[in-house]
Amino acid sequence: MDEIIFLNGDYINRENAKISIMDRGFLFGDGVYELIPIYKSKPFLIKKHLDRLHSSMSLIGMSDEHFFMQDFENIFNELIERNEYKDHFFYVHVTRGYQSTRNHVYDKKIQPTVLIMGEGYNIFSSEQIKRGFKGCTQEDFRWTKSHIKSISLLGNVLLKNYAAQQNFYETLLLRDAKLTEGSASNIFISKGDDIFTPSLGVDLLPGVTRDLLIELFSAENKVIHECDVTKSDLQQADEIWCTSSTNYCVPITELDGVKVGNGQVGDFSLQAYDLISRYISTI
Ligand SMILES: Cc1ncc(COP(=O)(O)O)c(C=O)c1O
Repeated sequence: MDEIIFLNGDYINRENAKISIMDRGFLFGDGVYELIPIYKSKPFLIKKHLDRLHSSMSLIGMSDEHFFMQDFENIFNELIERNEYKDHFFYVHVTRGYQSTRNHVYDKKIQPTVLIMGEGYNIFSSEQIKRGFKGCTQEDFRWTKSHIKSISLLGNVLLKNYAAQQNFYETLLLRDAKLTEGSASNIFISKGDDIFTPSLGVDLLPGVTRDLLIELFSAENKVIHECDVTKSDLQQADEIWCTSSTNYCVPITELDGVKVGNGQVGDFSLQAYDLISRYISTI
């Protein structure tokens, strides 16, 4: 089936979609994005994702109220209907737009380039989750504005590939001996009865799944401590798991070749996985 995407107001075949080489996204990585899961043909947590897109845009000086007047919900529904999406995700890519000369200085009058396309992906089975995954650590050498969901992902790409080349799921990032996040996920750890996750700031993305999980645990009267997580906290953790919109809870049972806790997927990781699974099943 020909896949239909949305590009700057038009619904077109993915194969025919083109942008100019003078687009600032292409030349400078000057833009931001969102990834929104679709479960059972329904986009998940749209408002939270669009709020974050708004925040990313204003943080790079692209705040444009007209942009958010677009009826995103209508566009998503149209694409779901035309492409028969069921369990997919939307990739929403917004660049600062076309500028006729290559100039670091942007022209405030140019219009953003907006691309929305869907894609399928492999959601890990509950058996895979129960078996656990391996991870590694690396120095977080990315820029210090990681709270912006920037399309300039070279740092994240290199760090994720460092894990992938060893058949690991994720690279956990450390800056000044403190955990920031994963190359494409947020990180939670447990020790005894307590769960911790790094507090929000410029060093990490305010993950929508992170936020959802904190809310879901709180509804179970379980407070998650948002605070500094040091390298030694990570090394001594009983459990570690990653959250993201694509695979919402992925337990890490071995880090840098060493077992995490007893090397088995723990109760908090499974509870986190179940809480989100149940929440999704109610939408
Ligand atoms: C660097 C980074 N941190 C965290 C996340 C998790 O964010 P979310 O739960 O909103 O998908 C992602 C998701 O892609 C990411 O790329």
